[in-house]
Amino acid sequence: MNLTLRVWRQKDQQSPGSMVAYAIEGVSEHSSFLEMLDQLNERLVTEGEDPIAFDHDCREGICGMCSLTIDGVPHGPQHATTACQLHMRHFSDGDAITIEPWRASAFPVIRDLVVDRRAFDRIIQAGGYVSVNTGSAPDANAIPISKEDAEAAFDAAQCIGCGACVAACPNASAMLFVAAKAAQLARLPQGQPERLKRAIHMVEAMDREGFGNCSNHYECEAVCPKEIPVKYIAELNRDFFKAALVSREFSPLPPPVEIEE
Ligand code: SF4
Ligand code: FES
Repeated sequence: MNLTLRVWRQKDQQSPGSMVAYAIEGVSEHSSFLEMLDQLNERLVTEGEDPIAFDHDCREGICGMCSLTIDGVPHGPQHATTACQLHMRHFSDGDAITIEPWRASAFPVIRDLVVDRRAFDRIIQAGGYVSVNTGSAPDANAIPISKEDAEAAFDAAQCIGCGACVAACPNASAMLFVAAKAAQLARLPQGQPERLKRAIHMVEAMDREGFGNCSNHYECEAVCPKEIPVKYIAELNRDFFKAALVSREFSPLPPPVEIEE
């Protein structure tokens, strides 16, 4: 295939960026999207130009490092597929493809298509540890957990922290990510002691990092490569409000007025 790529180039966080067009020839339909970028980079290096910086690690859809907005869609046009697992057979000869980094102020561009996603690590840190002794594998098997909860926790744990949900949301909200990370513990007995505290601390950390709030656009669910459903956001919201109601520490209401007898 012969393609035209319009790629966001930006030297560093301080420099302004712009779209640069590259013609690329002889792309195999069997190559992955990242292999196609490798092919272009090899040529750029041979010609003495700076290669295009982009994030990747596993290239198997499990690490969450690849973060490309392809033709306006985080991870590209293929449903439930990371950019590294997207193959060129989903494009046509002669296509012009636009490639941009995640767009969200909480994910500043480091260079070209690479963004700083450490805000997600800080949200996870704010969630804290589980304080119960989880024991080893046989102990885990000895704790009765309903099939429904075990499957829901496992589904939530599939979140790979890629950040596509943020890039797709018009509010740049991280609620789907936060909700998935909270749910993987909230659905299990080991996650109960800090469940409400965790919900508050993670949502507060999300706000501190500059992510927006959820206003039910559902764009996050549409682009999530792991098909994390928005029902986890509803569960997180319930825990958040419950925490505010049951705990004076977390209540947004002013403390009750002391009435003298
Ligand atoms: S919820 Fe989905 S889109 Fe968001 S970080 Fe997790 S895997 Fe990526
Ligand atoms: S490179 Fe690991 S999920 Fe894409």
